[in-house]
Amino acid sequence: MSLAKIVSLGAYAPKRLLTNQDLERMVETSDEWIVQRTGIRERHIAEEGEATSDLAVRAAQQALERAGVEPEEVEFIVVGTTTGDMAFPTTANVVQHRLGCRQAGSADVYAACTGSIYSLSVGAQYIQTGKYRTVLAIGAETLSKITDFTDRGTCILLADAAGAAVLRPAAGAFGILDTDLYSDGKYWELLYQPGGGSRNPTTHETVDKRMHYAKMKGNEVFKVAVRMFVDSAERILERNGCKADDVDLFIPHQANLRIIEAAAKRVGLPMERVFVNIDRYGNTGAASIYVALEEAWSLGRIKPGDLILLAAFGGGFTWGAALIRW
Ligand code: UT7
Repeated sequence: MSLAKIVSLGAYAPKRLLTNQDLERMVETSDEWIVQRTGIRERHIAEEGEATSDLAVRAAQQALERAGVEPEEVEFIVVGTTTGDMAFPTTANVVQHRLGCRQAGSADVYAACTGSIYSLSVGAQYIQTGKYRTVLAIGAETLSKITDFTDRGTCILLADAAGAAVLRPAAGAFGILDTDLYSDGKYWELLYQPGGGSRNPTTHETVDKRMHYAKMKGNEVFKVAVRMFVDSAERILERNGCKADDVDLFIPHQANLRIIEAAAKRVGLPMERVFVNIDRYGNTGAASIYVALEEAWSLGRIKPGDLILLAAFGGGFTWGAALIRW
């Protein structure tokens, strides 16, 4: 058994920017409030007709090119998303065809914002068991498509992007050391999209009642989220015989700067060792950790041998962490 290693990364965000000043003209809010309460200044929003797979394909192409890997070499594609192109087929299936990955199986992982850690974990297991040698793990969202732009509690947060990682077997002891996945469905009513599934199939009524938008009790999500970040980060560090001091860079799901700061403080990580890009991206769900990881890697914030901690939480609730020796 060999560990899975991230050999390269790619990221893509739609061209269109939505600033806090733009939002001031849409709902009763202010740039000052949004920056103070969330840390967000601007976010990328997909065009009409621009779907999740369009972003995923761009990110994956970049990751493959950087790795020097041909599409035919990819054996499995896993996409973490909550905003797939269609109810079915899966977004991974669309990506497989558009990339020309003719030898690849494909599946979506549906774990809200923790889709980042879930998809990375699923991809890593296939490498670790020896089943596959080349896996594409992707996180991609167009959360703007399920955002109610009259609801100031959600429209200031949610945004669109995609990130991708090429996974291959590691030669030595460096790679994805461990991943942890958790869930607790009792929290489902804190963050969910009521319409469009088998519980409330799409009707004129579900549309009229705005049931196809994300609903969130932000304040309650906030409190549980901090606990989950801390819990998953501490557990994965302890199980691998590591302490917070050993972590060179913590890359959390970019949900809210205050959540990130509170969690980092409790885990014992100074903000100099925490990667934050929420100011320019907002909350991009399952894409957020991939996009942050790609940026940190491109900027040279990650060096060979570094210990990298990833942690995320999302609707459901789901939460989890990953520990990587780069
Ligand atoms: O990936 C997981 C996704 N979700 C999250 O991570 C969300 C976690 N939660 C949050 O990020 C925060 O709870 C929010 C940013 C959503 C809200 O921040 P908060 O500090 O928890 O504010 P609050 O809901 O306690 O509201 C405080 C006040 C309220 O006014 P009153 O009742 O004190 O007069 C709200 O009505 O702020 C008001 N408010 C706003 N004011 C200006 C709520 N949203 C806004 C807004 N602009 N956009």
